Amino acid sequence: MSNTVILGAQWGDESKGGTTDFLAATANIVARYQGGDNAGHTVVVGEEKYVLHLIPSGILRPNIVNVIGNGVVINLETLFSEIEHLEGRQVDVNTDNLKISSRAHLIMPYHRIVESWDDFSSGLKLGTTARGIGPTYSDKMNRHAGIRVADLLEFDLFRKKIDFNFDVKNYALSQIGESIDKDALLEEYYEYAQRLAPYVIDTPEFFSDALKSGKRMLFEGAQGTMLDIDFGTYPYVTSSNTSVGAVCTGLGVGPQAIDEVLGVSKAYVTRVGSGPFPTEMPPDVDEEIRRIGNEYGATTARPRRCGWLDLVALRHATQINGLTHLALTKFDVLDHLNEILICTAYERNGQTVSSFPTSLSVLEECKPVYQAMPGWKQPLSQVRSPDELPTNAKKYITYVAEFLDVPVALISVGKERSETVVLEEHILT
Ligand code: GDP
Ligand code: IMO
Ligand code: MG
Repeated sequence: MSNTVILGAQWGDESKGGTTDFLAATANIVARYQGGDNAGHTVVVGEEKYVLHLIPSGILRPNIVNVIGNGVVINLETLFSEIEHLEGRQVDVNTDNLKISSRAHLIMPYHRIVESWDDFSSGLKLGTTARGIGPTYSDKMNRHAGIRVADLLEFDLFRKKIDFNFDVKNYALSQIGESIDKDALLEEYYEYAQRLAPYVIDTPEFFSDALKSGKRMLFEGAQGTMLDIDFGTYPYVTSSNTSVGAVCTGLGVGPQAIDEVLGVSKAYVTRVGSGPFPTEMPPDVDEEIRRIGNEYGATTARPRRCGWLDLVALRHATQINGLTHLALTKFDVLDHLNEILICTAYERNGQTVSSFPTSLSVLEECKPVYQAMPGWKQPLSQVRSPDELPTNAKKYITYVAEFLDVPVALISVGKERSETVVLEEHILT
């Protein structure tokens, strides 16, 4: 039984949720290891669409244990409303199929407010999801103000931390005319503590037992490699490591727990929020792909910017994550195109650039070099096996796989669970 990391190889929204749900049919455990409710992972089962922000995408399959690891930052309001929402739709969420790390940090109401103050005072318009992700990870690393799940469960300790934090955060809050009622917050969090306690586990023990008993695990990433705090387009990134290293630090497992690393990429690329995006399409094509691909954020409903597949960025993701396989999603969105562009390098001052630049000013000067591929010009949504794929779709897949030297294990041709084509059976085991 192999354990597979499923992570975003682009700027997020690659369909990690759909891919995880598909593979969960073959697994026992699905664990989230970083990010928070900035994530919006969509799973479509029949006519039903579910958008998951914190709960791992194994929740829609029976007999999967879903784990929220220590590397995740948890907004308890979101967590409980997500649980209630799922239960309201007859999806069972209980202490057997959902486990939460005692070491995960909490996103507190003041983190969201502080985030808007940070954005305002620095003048740097990062275009975040405004979920308080950055301030929560900052408090975690800074150590003075961070609050873990375990701290909430020792309520006297939690109260002391809240007293300290209110003294510290009040200045920022008052600057933007905001305030939070401390007593009401303590009351609310006392309730949360009672509700949360039965879900809480020590993840290193849990994963050690799971490994010994040969359980098949999926490690579900949030965001994408190009939003990684170290390797992405800093500072236009998120505040966690979205790349493979976060699996070990965000769950408490050793690297030998990882057998395969599946990088999920769209057959094109999208980005939400600010920041460089070398292969961004011209406005007319961008608009068309957004309409056909329904490219609107699952968390903030913002329009996603659309671009051509960028193999320079994808090569960067391949290197950082040691990708063993690729999943290429949303093929059907390109069905109508006569010609599909793939960026194979950048050009800067007459020189070819094949590595993703660190400097944003260098990146700004890079122009994509495109390889034009012929479109397949027929609907792919009925395709279920590789031999049913039209020749030009096969050519596209082979081109990407050979360029990156990574096999394409899966492609998706529609948003429903069954609309996935398996090219490498190995990924199912
Ligand atoms: P995630 O954050 O990586 O899980 O991805 P999102 O859920 O934010 O965005 C992916 C979107 O594409 C969702 O709305 C999916 O339902 C949709 N989707 C996934 N696969 C396909 C596909 O093959 N074709 C089409 N048309 N839509 C898809
Ligand atoms: P999933 O898991 C796409 C982007 C935001 C912003 C930047 C920083 O659904 O792929 P943050 O709120 O994290 O501080 O915002 O990161 N971003 C995402 N973009 N998909 C996501 O998650 C994202 N999570 C954050 O738009 O540009
Ligand atoms: Mg998403």
